[in-house]
Amino acid sequence: MKRISLVNRLWAALPLAFVYGLSLSLIPTVPLAAKMPASGEGIFKQSCQSCHPGGSNIVNASKPICGSSKLSTLAIFKAYLQAPVGHMPYYKHIIADKPALEALYKYCKTLKKGALEQALHNGLSGKDARG
Ligand code: HEC
Repeated sequence: MKRISLVNRLWAALPLAFVYGLSLSLIPTVPLAAKMPASGEGIFKQSCQSCHPGGSNIVNASKPICGSSKLSTLAIFKAYLQAPVGHMPYYKHIIADKPALEALYKYCKTLKKGALEQALHNGLSGKDARG
């Protein structure tokens, strides 16, 4: 008698376990949809570093990030990223994410002139390093 009731209880619990398992399996797909690095440095490495290693500008050397007037305030920085000039890409997902934009802004402000030379010295751009 006792055994049967235990089996019955297990069966009753099954749909619950199924729903629970299903919801667990769905969880990872939601937050991973927007995969933004947590730190300003991470965002910079993912989105900006390719053209701006160390805060320089390898596409247009006269327009580096370090020392740029576009870093005067967060509002100016945001406005620039919202309407970038020339070959600067448009970063909708960063602009839309306030904490990410602020973190990126703070990181860009830490970039100092001469960082490119340091980066090249460290072999960051590998065999493409000129001079
Ligand atoms: C595909 C290459 C490329 C990428 C990637 C890129 N930039 Fe640029 N960036 C440029 C170019 C080219 C310019 C110069 C535009 C012009 O004025 O002709 C520029 C200019 C800038 C300037 C203004 C410099 C000045 O004083 O005029 C800032 C600030 C800047 N980029 C920030 C960023 C940030 C932040 C990211 C990442 C979110 C980024 N860029 C990603 C190519 C790039």
